[in-house]
Parts: sequence; C-alpha cells; structure tokens
Amino acid sequence: MKPLEIRNLTIHYAVRGKWVEVVSGVDLDIDEKGEILAVVGESGCGKTTLGLAIAGLLPPNAKISSGSIKIFGKDVRSNFAKVAMIFQDALASLNPLLTIGEQIAEVYVHHFSMSKKEALEEAKKRLVEVGLPASYIDKYPHELSGGQRQRVLIAIAIAMNPELIIADEPTTALDVTTQAKVLKLLRSIVKSRGIPMVYITHDLALVAHIADKVAVMYAGQVVEYRDKYSLYKEPLHPYTQALLNSLPRVDLDLEELKVLKGEPPTPGSFPRGCRFNPRCSKAFSKCFIEEPPVKIFNNGFVRCHLYE
Ligand SMILES: Nc1ncnc2c1ncn2[C@@H]1O[C@H](COP(=O)(O)OP(=O)(O)O)[C@@H](O)[C@H]1O
Ligand code: SF4
Ligand SMILES: [Mg+2]
Repeated sequence: MKPLEIRNLTIHYAVRGKWVEVVSGVDLDIDEKGEILAVVGESGCGKTTLGLAIAGLLPPNAKISSGSIKIFGKDVRSNFAKVAMIFQDALASLNPLLTIGEQIAEVYVHHFSMSKKEALEEAKKRLVEVGLPASYIDKYPHELSGGQRQRVLIAIAIAMNPELIIADEPTTALDVTTQAKVLKLLRSIVKSRGIPMVYITHDLALVAHIADKVAVMYAGQVVEYRDKYSLYKEPLHPYTQALLNSLPRVDLDLEELKVLKGEPPTPGSFPRGCRFNPRCSKAFSKCFIEEPPVKIFNNGFVRCHLYE
C-alpha cells in the first residue's frame, strides 16, 4: 500500500456564511517509504490547508467536499494514521513553561506509556539524533536559537514514530545557512528512518535540496507534478517556468531576472478557464474559456492547454 494516496481532493472553508473552494481536485501520491514530496506555490494557494487535511487537523470551518486521503490505505478521516506535523513557528509550537526534555518525553509517556524516567532517556537519544547535546533536555525553548528549536520540533515529530511527516515551511523563519543545515538534517532523518514526508514551501530554490518529487500548486490546484530532476531540467507549466525564471542565479545579471508579475487570484474569484490565465505569457483564446485538462506523463502530469 502507498504511504500517501490523495484522489480528487476538494476542500471548502465557510467564510461569512458562504462555502469558498480553496483546494480543487488534488491528486498526489507518495509511492515509497522515505520518499519526499515537496508542495510548492505562492502564499495563499492552499498548501497549508492541504497539509492540515492530510494530518487530519483541518479547522472546524473547513470541509472535505470530495475526494479521499489515504495513508498506507487508511482514510485520514478514520483517525487511525499517525501523522506528525512540523510547523514554521517553533516558539508557538513549543510550551514555554516546560523544558525541552519534558516536551519530547511527553510523547513517550502519552503514546508509548513509558515512565517519566524512561521517557527522558529516550528524549536524550532524540536530541542527539537531531544534532543537539543530550544536556539540552534541561533547557527551556527561549534559551535556544531558532535553528535549535526547529531541531527540537523534528525530535518531537520522530519521537511519535509517525507513518508520515508533514513539514509546513519549517525553515522559513531561519537564516539561509541555518536553513540549509536543518534541511539536510530533516532529509537525512526521514531517509534513514524511511518516513515518507510532505514538505511544504513557497521557495522553489529549497525544493532542489530536499525533494524527490514536486507538486506545483496554483490557486488550489496542482498544475504540475514531476520528479525533481525532470521538473528542473524541463519545466512544462508556464507557472513553473515563471517560478524557476525568477530564482536568483549566478549566471544571470539582475536585469535578466524575470519577476512573475501580478498576484494569484483569491479563493472565491478564480478566473474562468485556466486559473493562471491573467498572468500567463503563453495564454491563448481557449485558456480564457475552458479549464485545462490534466495531461499525464509517465513521471507525472501537467495541467495546461499547451500539452493537449
Ligand atoms: N481557517 C480559514 N478560514 C477561512 N479561510 C482560510 C482559512 N485558512 C486559510 N484560509 C484561506 O484559504 C486560502 C489558502 O490558505 P493556505 O492553505 O493557508 O495557503 P498557503 O499555505 O499556500 O499560503 C487563503 O486564501 C486563506 O486566506
Ligand atoms: S492553460 Fe493557457 S493560460 Fe493556463 S498555463 Fe497553459 S497556456 Fe497559460
Ligand atoms: Mg501556508
């Protein structure tokens, strides 16, 4: 059974008494243990909503209006899957009044019925696994740097022994050097433990370092889904091409950098036809009338009229 199988997933939020569609007909898979799927797209395109749905943590005003999410064959709505979520804001995710050791140990006490003493011993091992000294069990969150706190969140996530990890922009608040270190750690841990992971980010540059395959989201839809190497070598969707073109590159002058103009549409007012049409340099008449169908390739798919 696949670690993750999402089929035709559509999610609405109730906003001022109306249902607004924020995730539309998403199909995604993780095929093997330890595989890392990156979900990338601009802010507001529905990445966090998708992540929360996979973790079974959607807020009360959200509903899954169609489709399914299965983790190793179990529907997430049955609550039997063990999913750990790592968020961007480590300070908000940690309890300021408890030591790091107590917070990791809590997982062992709750999920594995260990004694406090045994649990603290396990907590030390997890700290070492994430590259922190075992002595940090006695420290409080405010005594750590941002990068160290993110490592603690990773320790808590793996303590659960999860079937799947969802990491939602876990390094966005960190400086570039620390970001790279935390990413490397996260990748090596999920690979060595064989934990499948969904890695959510707005930063396509980061994806190159962490992902095995990539889903590019735009206005609630997955517009391109490929393995990482094919995506970087030959991006198919005009949105992916625009995102890649706007990445800083050493071989280009600043003037040559093409910044993607305009804003993504807001849920509730997606344009007719292709949702990317107001910003697309390759748009033609059909793009303003018909929604592009999904064109399947052997290593993924693209949603664009250019590839019919
Ligand atoms: N609890 C909520 N209620 C209503 N709308 C929401 C809620 N959470 C997010 N949204 C809206 O849903 C859209 C997608 O948000 P989100 O999933 O956070 O996107 P991303 O993570 O890609 O930035 C946005 O327009 C956002 O304003
Ligand atoms: S369907 Fe048309 S508007 Fe949409 S991305 Fe393709 S070419 Fe651009
Ligand atoms: Mg988000």
